[in-house]
Amino acid sequence: MTSEPARSPVDATTTTAWGSLTELSKNLQPDLRGWFATDPARAGRLSHQAGDLHVDLSKNLVTDEVLASLLALADEVRLAERRDAMFAGEHINVTEDRAVLHTALRRPSDEPLTVDGQDITGDVQDELAKVYAFAEKVRSGEWTGVTGEPIRTIVNIGIGGSDLGPVMAYEALEPFVQDGLACRFVSNIDPTDVAQKTADLDPTTTLFIVASKTFGTLETLTNARLARDWLVRSLAAAGAIEDSEEGRADAVAKHFVAVSTALDKVEAFGIDPENAFGFWDWVGGRYSVDSAIGTSLAVAIGPDAFAELLAGFHAMDEHFRTTPFERNVPALMGLLNVWYVNFRDAHTHAVLPYAQQLHRFPAYLQQLTMESNGKSVRWDGTPVTSDTGEVFWGEPGTNGQHAFYQLIHQGTRLIPADFIAVANPAYPLRDAEADVHGLFLANFFAQTKALAFGKTADEVRAEGVAEELVSAKVFSGNRPTTSILAPALTPSVLGQLIALYEHITFVQGVVWGIDSFDQWGVELGKKLALEIAPAVAGDEDALRTQDPSTAALIAKYRELRG
Ligand code: F6P
Repeated sequence: MTSEPARSPVDATTTTAWGSLTELSKNLQPDLRGWFATDPARAGRLSHQAGDLHVDLSKNLVTDEVLASLLALADEVRLAERRDAMFAGEHINVTEDRAVLHTALRRPSDEPLTVDGQDITGDVQDELAKVYAFAEKVRSGEWTGVTGEPIRTIVNIGIGGSDLGPVMAYEALEPFVQDGLACRFVSNIDPTDVAQKTADLDPTTTLFIVASKTFGTLETLTNARLARDWLVRSLAAAGAIEDSEEGRADAVAKHFVAVSTALDKVEAFGIDPENAFGFWDWVGGRYSVDSAIGTSLAVAIGPDAFAELLAGFHAMDEHFRTTPFERNVPALMGLLNVWYVNFRDAHTHAVLPYAQQLHRFPAYLQQLTMESNGKSVRWDGTPVTSDTGEVFWGEPGTNGQHAFYQLIHQGTRLIPADFIAVANPAYPLRDAEADVHGLFLANFFAQTKALAFGKTADEVRAEGVAEELVSAKVFSGNRPTTSILAPALTPSVLGQLIALYEHITFVQGVVWGIDSFDQWGVELGKKLALEIAPAVAGDEDALRTQDPSTAALIAKYRELRG
């Protein structure tokens, strides 16, 4: 397989399906109560299985006609062709002229893939073997710090995709973490982050993983230097190393490893390339948790569980790659998002995990979806022809219920929401006779039901509510939700969930004709921060070059800083 130049995007708004959807939307009076009453098969017909995930789409604001038109839209924008191009390694990341092959990271070893003359599967397996060997060494205690102590704490230093995936997955899979091992994650350049995360650590049993695709990210390199200083200072203070160049180099060698695509920069930082794990420019940062970027996780949960996670990803990849779109969950969920954004004026999308262990999943999805699809130009450089992207947000249920659900239930905005739950909890506690997880999930079912079917004025009145309070207690219903249920939060299920959202994001990007794999929008701020830093540090000439508002803010900061 070789790389092919990408075709121009189809302008979705010129398709027949887009016209039909516009008409259907104009005439649609959502009526979930009526739809379910007249069509008892709706729940069954609109529920699908993808790997271990049972996905009920029936509480969405769609009729069969709408769904048919969304599927026609997928055909007209050539979704299948684009999907196959991604899996085959064509350079669909046009603005960076790169293949997009995160799916190759979880491809089984006996399914070879060659792209641009490179044995991708072989490369992936070789690197995985390195990561696994390292993970085993740390887990078994064979890898020791300068005093011969085994490692107890792994601190991953990274940001964006080099942080959000690993920390989200670590929290999600906490029950699988080896006893006596723990991970921490430092990401923010706010010095508080590294200070707090190292404050109570024993340097002799701490291992830092500096994770950065480019190894050029200011936040990560600054934090890595701060961590290196902390390490050598506290080891020297404890008498664990000699305060000499040699002593410091030995400490770094035993307490620092790196993950990057830029191994030359790793070496320049002082980390032995022997202790570095690589990946490739065809893995986007936000698609990299299943590459060596997941090394902290692989150490914590072990190679077997990490392999299960990869198998879960692959199961969802196969579902997306081979299932007809009528039953293809990522395709359907991506198309539903298009329906809400482009035809029903939704601006945000809530993700509400009824699983405490998934508490970082919404934050993870924010980067995945918003860095991927927050674009105003298409992959050929022309302006987009419709709205793109949604603001993704959420908190675990039931915390969200007691915070922001009011707006979802009774506000003026349409907020499609994904509810995610597992049937078997990691901690099946009982409150006297009551199974607490059952109580928890009763909330999941109650919320999706209330959002869909609401409560009419007559129902409120029938409860004896005073007439002047009736309108305040009415729930309109017809608030769309998707319910995702899995047997348990295993590594495989987590992999399936992540891959599901990767592919949903991809589907939306294809409809909008955008490159979901670049992120030029983050560059300007980074560059300006470097230009502004001298002014912040006190350079008056640099301060004078700033616009009046920024200059005044910097001056105020300096005055307050004293
Ligand atoms: O600034 C955005 C970004 O480039 C993300 O896409 C990426 O995940 C993050 O920065 C971190 O980049 P790196 O892994 O190269 O340090």
